[in-house]
Amino acid sequence: MPLDRTLSLVVMCSTIAVVSCGQAAERPGDSVASSVELSGDGGETGTGSTIAEVCSVPTLACATNKLVGAAVNVEALDNVPTYAEVLAREFDYITPENVMKWGPLQPSPGAWDFSAADALVAKAAANGQSVKGHALVWHRQKPGWVATLDDAALLDAVHAHVTTTVEHFRGKLRAWDVVNEAIDDYGANAIRDGIHSALQVSGMADAFKWARAADPEAKLFYNDYGIEGLNSKSDAAYRLVQDLIAAGAPIDGVGFQAHFSTKSYPSLTALRANMRRFAALGLSVNISELDVRTVEVPGTRAQRRAAQAIAYQEVASACATTAACEALTTWGFTDAYSWIDDEYAPDDPLPFTELYAKKPAYTGLRAGLSGTRLQTTSVTSAGSCESLTGWSVFAGGTLGLGAGRHGMACRVSARTQAYHGPSLALTGKVQHGATLRVTAHARLGLAGSVRMTLKKVEDGKPDEYLSLASGAADSSGWTLLSGNVTLGWQTAPRELVLYFESPAVGGSYANLFVDDVTIQVLSRPAATPM
Ligand code: XIL
Repeated sequence: MPLDRTLSLVVMCSTIAVVSCGQAAERPGDSVASSVELSGDGGETGTGSTIAEVCSVPTLACATNKLVGAAVNVEALDNVPTYAEVLAREFDYITPENVMKWGPLQPSPGAWDFSAADALVAKAAANGQSVKGHALVWHRQKPGWVATLDDAALLDAVHAHVTTTVEHFRGKLRAWDVVNEAIDDYGANAIRDGIHSALQVSGMADAFKWARAADPEAKLFYNDYGIEGLNSKSDAAYRLVQDLIAAGAPIDGVGFQAHFSTKSYPSLTALRANMRRFAALGLSVNISELDVRTVEVPGTRAQRRAAQAIAYQEVASACATTAACEALTTWGFTDAYSWIDDEYAPDDPLPFTELYAKKPAYTGLRAGLSGTRLQTTSVTSAGSCESLTGWSVFAGGTLGLGAGRHGMACRVSARTQAYHGPSLALTGKVQHGATLRVTAHARLGLAGSVRMTLKKVEDGKPDEYLSLASGAADSSGWTLLSGNVTLGWQTAPRELVLYFESPAVGGSYANLFVDDVTIQVLSRPAATPM
């Protein structure tokens, strides 16, 4: 970290007692361009930033040189003093949770209502916080009257909406989410039906151009969920962004929503690799809507919160250690107000309790933002495959040794099902509530794909198969698979097994090789006094 940055944080944080310690540059938030790569090799080592140590007011914004944001519920901001205090103290970046969406802004044709959004922007400015506008082109929360428009009229309406809205806030917002959630969740991850497919790439590119014309200084983002790690949807988003750039869209960055569950979420390695491939297109990236659901893994409240803290730390660490990541925003900040309760199930997905106490998630988030790495302990030593000790086949095929990355690898030949592959038994080796980080290298005799899966068999329950990672593989090199998962159960599983699988390629099942498998239990560092 440059010395001047350290000094400015010391000065700001020690002299401003209550307001956020984040940067308030001329154009709010611009100073983040100086972000530092804490671990440039893409690996998991590194010492981490010392920002947290020099900041005498230990808030989230003070923990990092990234912007730290929260989505804001304006009713709570207006009516709950503690909500407003915590927001002002901890965060230096604001996203309106709802009030800048098309429906609330233009409930009937030509009738605009900017009052709630204007009030929020004014409050953010008074607190030295930057604002990201959200979201111009989205299939949800549109005004009802838009439904009656044909495609040509819809394009005109989007033009008017983007131009009027962005011009209204010109010079006041740091950024805009211009296109939100354009990729659907089915097989080919096509452009989503509705407004996105009516616009197509050219219309979405136009939306970026209209936004740029209306506020040339605002950074313009594509934003989506399920594109945080390396998977078919993030591949589709990557292609869409390339297409938008080719169509002349002035796009500055990509937001990864990161609505996660402790049950399974992308690993630090995958998050960073995905951020870096978008960054290589010349874009900045951000974590735009982070929350972490806990109820999908059974356990006590303390266990669920501990697992949640690890997830927060991993995601924050991915941003903190990636130069192109400029901001991390949580979708709300107190469990008193979260969309998860309405749209998923009652849960506590955020870093503060309903009563504004800091949860373990807060500690994890803050540690991750300041670049702290998780402690890990190894679950098994069988991963190198120099001998076959500890390895077996999953349901079928023949286990043997083949050429490995350094020495030998585990090989399963004579496979006759997709799920026939090398496996490692973890039964009895993992504690309830543990968050595992699993990495492995795989190779395949033919060009195809490989998947890493965890099977859990608990008495009296259906068998569970958790997909940890998947990727393209062939015989020419090794594919890195990595994933994080939090495991929980009512009764200790009768069987817990990690295995590798691969579907048939042109009717035949290729030999599947696996090497250098690591299975580590993540544990977060003890809370620091706040
Ligand atoms: C959600 C809000 O949090 C809810 O209050 C609202 O009812 C629906 O929208 N992705 C997005 C956000 O981009 O705008 C969504 O916000 C959550 C998912």
